[in-house]
Amino acid sequence: MSRKLFVTTALPYANAPFHIGHIMEYIQADIWVRFQRMQEDEGKPREVHFVGADDVHGAPIMIAAEKAGKTPREFVAEIAAGRAAPLNGFLISFDNWHSTDGPENHELSCEIYRRLKAKGLIATRTIEQFFDPVKQMFLPDRYIKGECPKCGAKDQYGDTCEVCSSVYTPTELKNPYSVLTGATPVMKQSEHFFFKLSDPQCTAFLKEWTLGQVDGHPRLQTEVANKAREWLEGKDGDDNALTDWDISRDAPYFGIEIPDAPGKYFYVWLDAPVGYLASLKNYFSKKGIDYDAFMADPDTEQYHFIGKDIIYFHTLFWPAMLHFADMRVPNNVFVHGFITVGGEKMSKSRGTGISPLRYLDIGMNPEWLRYYLAAKLSDRVEDIDFTGDDFIARVNSDLIGKYVNIASRAAGFITKRFGGKLAHGWTSTPAPVLDTLRTASAEIADLYEKREYGRALRQIMHLADEVNAYVDEHKPWVLAKDPEKSEELHQVCTRLLEAFRILTIYLKPVLPAIAQKVEAFLDIAPLQWTDVSHPLADGHAIRPYEHLMQRVEQKMLDALFDAPAQAAPAEKDTASTPAIEPLAEQITIDDFAKVDMRIAKIVDCSLVEGADRLLRLTVDAGEGRLRNIFAGIRSAYRPEDLTGKLTVIVANLAPRKMKFGISEGMVMAASGKDDAGIYILQPWPGAKPGMRLR
Ligand code: MSP
Ligand code: ZN
Repeated sequence: MSRKLFVTTALPYANAPFHIGHIMEYIQADIWVRFQRMQEDEGKPREVHFVGADDVHGAPIMIAAEKAGKTPREFVAEIAAGRAAPLNGFLISFDNWHSTDGPENHELSCEIYRRLKAKGLIATRTIEQFFDPVKQMFLPDRYIKGECPKCGAKDQYGDTCEVCSSVYTPTELKNPYSVLTGATPVMKQSEHFFFKLSDPQCTAFLKEWTLGQVDGHPRLQTEVANKAREWLEGKDGDDNALTDWDISRDAPYFGIEIPDAPGKYFYVWLDAPVGYLASLKNYFSKKGIDYDAFMADPDTEQYHFIGKDIIYFHTLFWPAMLHFADMRVPNNVFVHGFITVGGEKMSKSRGTGISPLRYLDIGMNPEWLRYYLAAKLSDRVEDIDFTGDDFIARVNSDLIGKYVNIASRAAGFITKRFGGKLAHGWTSTPAPVLDTLRTASAEIADLYEKREYGRALRQIMHLADEVNAYVDEHKPWVLAKDPEKSEELHQVCTRLLEAFRILTIYLKPVLPAIAQKVEAFLDIAPLQWTDVSHPLADGHAIRPYEHLMQRVEQKMLDALFDAPAQAAPAEKDTASTPAIEPLAEQITIDDFAKVDMRIAKIVDCSLVEGADRLLRLTVDAGEGRLRNIFAGIRSAYRPEDLTGKLTVIVANLAPRKMKFGISEGMVMAASGKDDAGIYILQPWPGAKPGMRLR
């Protein structure tokens, strides 16, 4: 029987560009999808559909759009326009990227709601909630602040106090105010719609789905099942701990209007997962594939890759919504942990120290990151940490040292000594190393299937070690010196290329671009998993070898980490009137040439006693002497942040005598019209002290 897969990643909020956590999730899912696409079932390629979309609805996006002076639709369209570059850049092979505001999602969400309602699973109830009388809108908890009822700390959010950590409800705050307008909120009643999760049939279904087995194994990952059990059974096992889910919000709201309930909208988390189906449906209609037939097919398998923070929505609300709407229920959700960078958790809005676009912009290879993350990923819900040293070591010593080098060691001889042709008769003589490589196929496939990428790569690197041991044993460079050993050299190098081809198959889900280069260089059709047992042909001609991958260099990581925090576009351009300071008077090129700007290395940096705005910098501008420069950047940088870095100085400015000493030049720094911080400049890798800017 031939498998049919429908795979998604979580739908990112359309209020900011991707951060490294999103990219990690996409890489994890993409590796799995590419692995599946390499498989065949009974000689037929496996059918795999992989889709994503922007999650565009909800109050935060509506408010961010308003701040930016845009309609929500304009606002999210701009975010959507920025999605392709990083997705393509990191080789993420989505078949479709859509939006939860598409017509398919409106239709599907309303249809699910109607069916739940017909089943008696929708209740209406009047609730009391804070209302902003100026803005004329109900306030989500995160938009209310006030004084902590316990310790009196000011400006605390409606749920917890950051000072004394006590937990409370927004109504308990003293002197509450709306974060949006500063107005004092009033209590107001409103009728809300609820999905009756507390209904015994819901609980029964969810217990079965979350704690049940598939093919003799628990469906969910252990950590995920434990959470679900806690939610369903309560901490002390008292049954039926689920409460009904409030699925409506009042206008003004950016969302999908509820059928027959004017002014009421679905809460964003109701329509967000429906966006998975909407994106698939949109894709199928473009491709002419029958969506209803695909979803009705009992053999279809549906999987969602998600992070650990959204388990509740995906293991309780989502399966229940679908099941009681008589729709296909997901086969599983695959949950990953969070990525931290240098041990630091990242902020939800700003991401971590690594900006995906900067990574690509400074010319770092996307497959380094794919390989590095894959090496750390498993089927557990564990956080993984990115550190620069570890990254360099894994990529350079494993990927380049063990794998890429095999090809470069063998291909040169084939091209130079044997006219680019492989040996004859090599397949009929035994080669234990090739047998070892081929035998590993099933085990490696099983590890990919189980999302144990780290273990799969370790296994593959063991095989690469064996191939390298074969090289060391047969020493092609020694054989090459003896004309009588020419045939042996040909045989050894041919086997090495075959070994390299098999390793390339195993690595292809992680390294699709390298695999493509290898296919071109070996002059063979795109590699599929079963090609493990179809060796290169006798006497097959290859193309000249071109280097497959560069090593990572420390200076690239330096450049990556020095990326200034990326502001979300909502904060960046707030209105259509220019938010920047007016341009200075026009100058000629000669005027410009009078300013001599140089790259300089900050060799030392210290605080200046008695001057709390200044830092003292000792810089090397390549002149064979060091300069002393005072810069008013202390509010933005600590001395240890700057020492060792390159920057730009104005080198021909007249020296200036200050209270603390003489300043011999000026450090260039960017600052905005308002108080948006100070940013010194850093050149791209490769610039040297003393180089002039022109
Ligand atoms: N819009 C919702 C998801 C709706 S799915 C129907 C959302 N969006 S999100 O942009 O905040 O997160 C999208 C995905 O990124 C989630 O799976 C989330 O767990 C994941 N990550 C967010 N930060 C992450 C890390 N630091 N590391 C790894 N994944 C992280 O939630
Ligand atoms: Zn407090």
